[in-house]
Parts: sequence; structure tokens; C-alpha cells
Amino acid sequence: MAKGKEKSVFFCQECGYESAKWLGKCPGCGQWNTFVEELVTKQSGDVARLMPSSEPMTLQEIYYDDVLRIDTGIHELNRVLGGGMVPGALMLLAGDPGIGKSTLTMQLTGSIHMQEKILYVSGEESRQQLKMRAQRLGIGTEQLYILTENNLSVIEKHIDKIKPGLLILDSIQTVYLPEITSAPGSVSQLRECTGKLLQWAKGLGLSVIVVGHVTKDGAVAGPRVLEHMVDTVLFFEGERHNHFRILRALKNRFGSTNEIGVFEMQEQGLREVHNPSEVFLSERPQDTVGSVVVPCMEGTRPVLVELQALVASSPYGQPRRMTNGADYNRTAMLLAVLEKKMRLPIGNHDIFLNVVGGLKVDEPAIDLGIIAALVSSMQNRPILKDAVVLGEVGLTGEVRTINFLDKRLIEAEKMGFRVAVVPAGNLKQGQKFPIEVKGVRNVGEALRVLLGGA
Ligand code: TYD
Ligand code: MG
Repeated sequence: MAKGKEKSVFFCQECGYESAKWLGKCPGCGQWNTFVEELVTKQSGDVARLMPSSEPMTLQEIYYDDVLRIDTGIHELNRVLGGGMVPGALMLLAGDPGIGKSTLTMQLTGSIHMQEKILYVSGEESRQQLKMRAQRLGIGTEQLYILTENNLSVIEKHIDKIKPGLLILDSIQTVYLPEITSAPGSVSQLRECTGKLLQWAKGLGLSVIVVGHVTKDGAVAGPRVLEHMVDTVLFFEGERHNHFRILRALKNRFGSTNEIGVFEMQEQGLREVHNPSEVFLSERPQDTVGSVVVPCMEGTRPVLVELQALVASSPYGQPRRMTNGADYNRTAMLLAVLEKKMRLPIGNHDIFLNVVGGLKVDEPAIDLGIIAALVSSMQNRPILKDAVVLGEVGLTGEVRTINFLDKRLIEAEKMGFRVAVVPAGNLKQGQKFPIEVKGVRNVGEALRVLLGGA
């Protein structure tokens, strides 16, 4: 290999900003102390110009066929991808170590509906380990080729030979290009390697799934440029102590980013969970204070989630507030509404709010549910039996309309709920609903219906 002139360049580990000298604060993303030095031989930074050059065309001339999606054989994954895998797509699968990324990609090789070969490259595990996992998952596909290799140039040679339709690379942080002197996982390696993958994806029409590790604060390790370069960023998450895993798209050039896929990690690998409501409500205690069920929308799918609140008088001057799965600031606003509009002295209480099952809900339709759970716990009164609660709450304590009421109520009925407390504004005369609905205009009315009295 002819050695070019080496020079030292500093990269921001957060956003990939390049600088000739070390900087305390990154001008690109504003973060402090994120610059690291790397030796660069090749002039990097041209990866954005990787699209094959083409002539300008009118929209009418461009041929596009939506049926051209590959069925991955995993329903929940298809949904998150927007209806299947697009050939020639570069997808990043990110998540904490041990969450099940390798399991998911290995399972995919056994279920995907494609004629072409699949090349599974691991830079982390030995062939024996991979074989063991494949056996455990019951995968015996003949079209699957396993390669343990870290050098991307060598991987390229094998791609030329095998000509796979799908490449799985586990993980981007463990591969390198020999012409770049910095270590695997460094900004310039990540950038150039991803550029190479992009070239293969777009040039050869090869679908690529690349696994990426995340840093301790949950960002995809390596610079943001990695996220910019790929077509799809999938995030696999879950809590270590429970078996449920949620797959979501943080970015998707071929579909929406609202859909989630739910899985359960079992002895024989990941099992798809087709009815998440059942799972999230499975351990719900009956008639307990502080527990409310809200039908939330996760993309196009309604999912019933249980909200739990614990409100206890605070022994210290500085009450503690903790939310898990619900937005902290939104909850603070709802507390202020309770304090000011309902004259509830809730401000001097410790408050713990939890969305059960590790789900994160960020839609405003959950507001009234949060309020109901908080007041129920504070006043030690259980919520109306077999009821679900829905509604956005405004600053004056009014209950505002929400979308997809029908879908949510159908799901509630399916799960055995009999009554729903909903915004009055959502109800039109003569309209029929699957379960009994009680329309409320403001928080006071809602609490009277849900808790009786108040
Ligand atoms: P893995 O896919 O290796 O995680 P990642 O690639 O994201 O680091 O899976 C991690 C965990 O899953 C591991 O602790 C073992 C567990 N597991 C099962 O429970 N059942 C299985 O069938 C497999 C393959 C793994
Ligand atoms: Mg792994």
C-alpha cells in the first residue's frame, strides 16, 4: 500500500466535526471536550458524494415499484421497516450490549424470504459461537455464509466472490479499512467504513444491515454522520431485568418512524409479540390506587399501557419527582394544573410516575391518565372499575380532543374494558362506540367521574 502523507486531525466524537487543532468546545454541536486526535492518511470527507451519478429526470420518468420490498419473515420487523426491507438499503441496528441485536439479525437470516445468498460477517464472535447461536435458534439455511473478519477490504473480496443479496455486519465498530491508520471505532474509520457500505448498497443493490453499539448515554457510538449516511436507523431497547424488547425506527427513508415492534427474549430466541396490550397489562393489579390504563397510539397501532403513580408526602423540603416512560416536563405542567386549578397541595409531595413495561409514551393523550393516577394515589381512592382514560389537558385544566378515538376504544374493548372517560369534544351526537363513553370537559369533571366525588 502506497503511504500518503500522514497528518493529524481532530474529530468531535459527537458530531464528527473536523478540525486541524484541538478545541475545547465543538463549533458543530456545542459539546465540550469531545475532540480526539486521529492520524489520517487519506483525505476523508468525500463520502457524501457516493450516489452513482445520473442524468436529471422528471418525476414521471422515474420508475418506482412499491411491491419491491423483501419480506423479512418477521412481522414486527416488517412493520418497523415500513412494510419490509428495501433492496439496496443501508440499515443501522443500534442498541445496548446484550439486548439481542445479534440474535435478531441471526434469526432474520433464517426467516427472510429471499433467493440470494446471505453473508453474515462478525467481527466480534468466533465461528463456533455463531454456529452455537444458529443451532439454538434452529437456523439451518444453506444460503447463509458466515465470515469472521474485521478488514473491510477482505470482506469486499468475499462479497465479489459470493455475491450475496444481504450483508449483515456485526458490528461497525469492529471493522476497519487498512488504508486508514486510526483504530477501528474511531471517527474516521466509522465514516469511511460506512461510506464503503453505502457504496456497496447503492452500487450493487446489496441490502446491508450493520449493527452499531451505543454509548452509555444511549446515542449511537461514533459521530452523528453515521446516522446521516444510512437509510434507516433502528433502535432495539428494553430493560435488562425484563424480557420485553422494543424495536423502533429513529430514522427511516422508506417509511414512518412511528411504528414499534415488540419482542420477547426467550430461551429459543426472540418471539414476536403480536398483542402488546396483553403483555403490558399482564401483571396489572386489580382495583389498586394509583393505577390507570390508557390506550396509546404507537404508530398506527393502539397499545394499552398501565400508568402507575405513587404520591407520598415528602419528609424533606425538596420533594422528589421521578418519571419513567412519561415526559418529565409534561408531568410537571400537569402537577401545576392540579395545584393551581384543582387546589390540590400536591407540590410538596414526592412523586413517582411509571409507564409499566418499559414503554415510552410521549403523546399528549396520556395527560388525563397521568392526572388520574396522581390524584388516585394522593387521595388513596381507586379509579372507576374497568375504565380507560384518554385526553389531553390544557393549562386552564380543560380536557382537549384527541385523535384515533375509535381505534383506541376498539382495543380497549378487546382487552375487556367496559367504559372510557374521554374528551367531550370527541363525542358527536348519534355516534356509536364499542364501549360506554363518558365525555368530560375539564379535569374537575374527569376526576368526579373517575374517582367519585372530589
Ligand atoms: P445478543 O443477541 O448476543 O445481544 P447483542 O448482540 O445485542 O449484544 O443476545 C444477548 C442476550 O440474549 C444474551 O444475554 C443471551 C440472551 N439470549 C437468550 O435469552 N436466548 C437466545 O436464544 C439467545 C440467542 C440469546
Ligand atoms: Mg452481539
